[in-house]
Amino acid sequence: MMQRMVRLGVFLLLSAFLALPALPTLAAQQPATPEAEEGPATPVPPPTPQLPVTVTDVQGNTVTVEDVSRIVPLSGDIAEIIWTLGLGANIVGVDVSAVYPAELQQLPKIGFERQLSAEGILALNPTVVIGKEQAGPAAALDQVRAAGVPVVILAEPQTLDAPAEKIRAVAEALGVADAGEELANRVQSEIDAARELAAQATSKPRVLFLYVRGGGTQLIGGAGTVSAAMIEGAGAIDAGSETGLQGFVPVTAEAIAAAQPDVIIVPGSGVGSLGGMQGLLEIPGVAQTPAGEQGRILVYDDLEFLGMTPRTGKMLQELVEALHPELVDATPVASPEVA
Ligand code: HEM
Repeated sequence: MMQRMVRLGVFLLLSAFLALPALPTLAAQQPATPEAEEGPATPVPPPTPQLPVTVTDVQGNTVTVEDVSRIVPLSGDIAEIIWTLGLGANIVGVDVSAVYPAELQQLPKIGFERQLSAEGILALNPTVVIGKEQAGPAAALDQVRAAGVPVVILAEPQTLDAPAEKIRAVAEALGVADAGEELANRVQSEIDAARELAAQATSKPRVLFLYVRGGGTQLIGGAGTVSAAMIEGAGAIDAGSETGLQGFVPVTAEAIAAAQPDVIIVPGSGVGSLGGMQGLLEIPGVAQTPAGEQGRILVYDDLEFLGMTPRTGKMLQELVEALHPELVDATPVASPEVA
């Protein structure tokens, strides 16, 4: 609840901040979330893996996993899933997108999911490596396989089915299918509950997702992306999809003007890398949109908003409430007395 208030606070107070000549950086505005401090609920005691397991991965490779004592996940969402399944203590290294829970940030780094080096992974003596289709380059993963390490590559649907599908696939590959089933069912019911709440909304704002990161990466989310899945799942119009954009495309002032968003969503680290909210408003076209003019900008943690992880249901619920104030403010209407 507290976390929700903090997030809503960022949203609602931004119009006040916009009047200030120099905006504080996002880092200064956003305190750590309670969950980041506490870490996710993990099963106690941890599940006992039933091994060996043989799976056919999304690339058609038949992979046998005999030992999960030294796991290297190739991305932050997979790391979070393994942790939440109760096998966090078996993770021996992570990529730079593994930011949650905070404990994972202390582990040795293997680089970034899309720019991995085989040497960095092999140096950790992994018993299993597990990632998604976009992990690469392919030659690095081939080198890991050639060293005799099982490598499992999973699909990543760009829909709200992704969290449950990934949880089940990760759990199966690590020999903890029952724990995976339990977690997947819980996460799916949270997602379903958020969607049911969204279905009661009377407003339908146009929402644009911008992925911004450091030196020059500025992308708009369009159709077929996880950001569109989140926005539409929250009962809003994905402005990028609606104006004909497919996938993530480079930002142009024209595309932003055409989108006419009522609300813009940006990842927190991206805003930080632009030097705060002022940097975001300086992206051509942003300040002239209804969202920019009214300060209706929502800032969410990258992994939490885009990651399709065990936290997605809670994130979606938060988004539904932020986008549809009528659902939060509505005073329950008393049922008419039955005569
Ligand atoms: C799903 C949509 C996403 C897209 C389209 C995307 C796209 C990109 C691109 C194009 C880059 C390269 C940026 C550059 O070199 O300047 C990048 C870097 C990065 N992304 Fe994402 N990303 C996505 C999701 C995420 C998520 C969920 C995280 C989780 C924290 C994340 C974390 C990072 C990090 C840490 C880097 C910098 C890697 C480095 O140090 O070189 N991204 N992303």
